[in-house]
Amino acid sequence: MKDIQNAQDFNARIKRVLITKEEIDVAIAKAGKEIAKIYDGRPILLVSILKGAFVFMADLCRAVDAPCEIGFMCAKSYYKGTVSTGVVQITMDLEQDISNYHVVIVEDIIDTGRTLNDVVKLLKARNPLSLRVVTLLDKPDRRLVDFKADISLFTIPDHFVIGYGLDCGEYFRNLPYIAEYSEDQ
Ligand code: IMP
Ligand code: MG
Repeated sequence: MKDIQNAQDFNARIKRVLITKEEIDVAIAKAGKEIAKIYDGRPILLVSILKGAFVFMADLCRAVDAPCEIGFMCAKSYYKGTVSTGVVQITMDLEQDISNYHVVIVEDIIDTGRTLNDVVKLLKARNPLSLRVVTLLDKPDRRLVDFKADISLFTIPDHFVIGYGLDCGEYFRNLPYIAEYSEDQ
């Protein structure tokens, strides 16, 4: 795979749009209402897993009509190209002591399930008042660890996807939609 040098290389890797911005907006409005209803006015802490979930977090937090704080955590899953190596590392931790919070983890995608499995284990050990997981995308075909989100906006087939926060080699996070990545360059 050669490096991206220009706009032509960049665009050639965007195979096709899988989920449009409009479809994402509709699903987020619905998820925001669902979250507000679950907590019924109790304050919550939305925890975004960086970097992939930063775009989803920005839109989701504005769709939740309830008192909420936001927090960030950086969990890095190591990839060789588009293949997960199974190594998950927490490179930046939350600043909040979560023992007084209803926590909602906001994730971009659940693939093998390893990242969230580790993050949930870690956060549960800190005794939050409650803990739920919302994910934008779910690739259930690829699961290696049994893990299910409480709220999942889209279930997708086993394609490597980019855009709306998700990257390949750190590029494509700025696409406003979710696209399939083209490996045939
Ligand atoms: P898991 O630990 O295999 O569930 O992987 C989760 C993390 O891998 C996600 O938070 C993403 O950052 C990354 N990831 C998994 N699948 C994709 C994909 O199709 N495109 C981009 N990133 C992905
Ligand atoms: Mg991620």
